[in-house]
Amino acid sequence: MDPETDALNELHRRLSGLRDGRVADYIPQLALADPDDFGIALVSMGGNTYRAGKADSVFTLQSVSKPFVYALALGDLGPRETLRHVGVEPSGNAFNAISLEPGTGRPANPMINAGAIATTALVRADGPAERFGRILACLSAFAGRTLDVDEDVYASEAATGDRNRALAYLMRSAGSLRADPAEAADTYFRQCAVRVTAADLAVMAATLANGGRNPVTGVRVVAEPDAVRTLAVMATCGMYDGAGQWLLDVGLPAKSGVSGGLIAASPGRFGVAVHSPPLDASGKPVRAVAALGEMAERFGLHIM
Ligand code: DON
Repeated sequence: MDPETDALNELHRRLSGLRDGRVADYIPQLALADPDDFGIALVSMGGNTYRAGKADSVFTLQSVSKPFVYALALGDLGPRETLRHVGVEPSGNAFNAISLEPGTGRPANPMINAGAIATTALVRADGPAERFGRILACLSAFAGRTLDVDEDVYASEAATGDRNRALAYLMRSAGSLRADPAEAADTYFRQCAVRVTAADLAVMAATLANGGRNPVTGVRVVAEPDAVRTLAVMATCGMYDGAGQWLLDVGLPAKSGVSGGLIAASPGRFGVAVHSPPLDASGKPVRAVAALGEMAERFGLHIM
């Protein structure tokens, strides 16, 4: 076995014993996740994949969708127009906080729910079906295979997502949301319910690390400046109210989601993904945070 896989297996074995955290249940369908599911995958710029544990377990993207849809919106509108609707400053608040900048009504950044809903509404389309079609095609190109929606998770979030709908209506009344609030929230619920594996997420992260070109398929998914901008916003805002501590400890742009997925990108080197459903109090997957912390220290990954 190669040394990379050896190192991932060793890390996986040790962290499997971590029993902290709780599986998210505020979206009822997510509560069905197996807390022992735990996979790690890493994809190099040469397109090589290394994996440990259950890297093929299927789960939904949730907030890990946000950076990829932001990159798509940047490509559609350009950075200046995108910035008119969504800021790029860390909010210091929880992922589901109300976020309306005084004066502009913009949400603080595209990584919190409010900013992600505003970003989804920016994707160019002639209506919600085309908008989601473009989002799904883009996520699929990042992953290098055709992805689909977990209809049960979508329905579960649509049935319980009133807080996100409220965020959309607040932004509409403040003048920052470009689409109908109910439609924007619904499209966002669908993007959160797209099914992936840790192996997919590692390819997606590696595509950002590779300047927007998928290192496995060779396909250019987004323009290099948009990939770089997305990584910059992940670095400052991807881990919500823990973003500062994360950058101090791990030092890589990253994004987590409530289904237990977490991606991190080492620009020009690799993309890495961990999946493990139990979350800490701020909604970050416990084993994934531990795995990235150890990898950063052992392999000197910190970009600073
Ligand atoms: O909007 C929500 O609450 C979920 N669909 C996604 C939130 C999420 O993943 C936050 N991540 N840590």
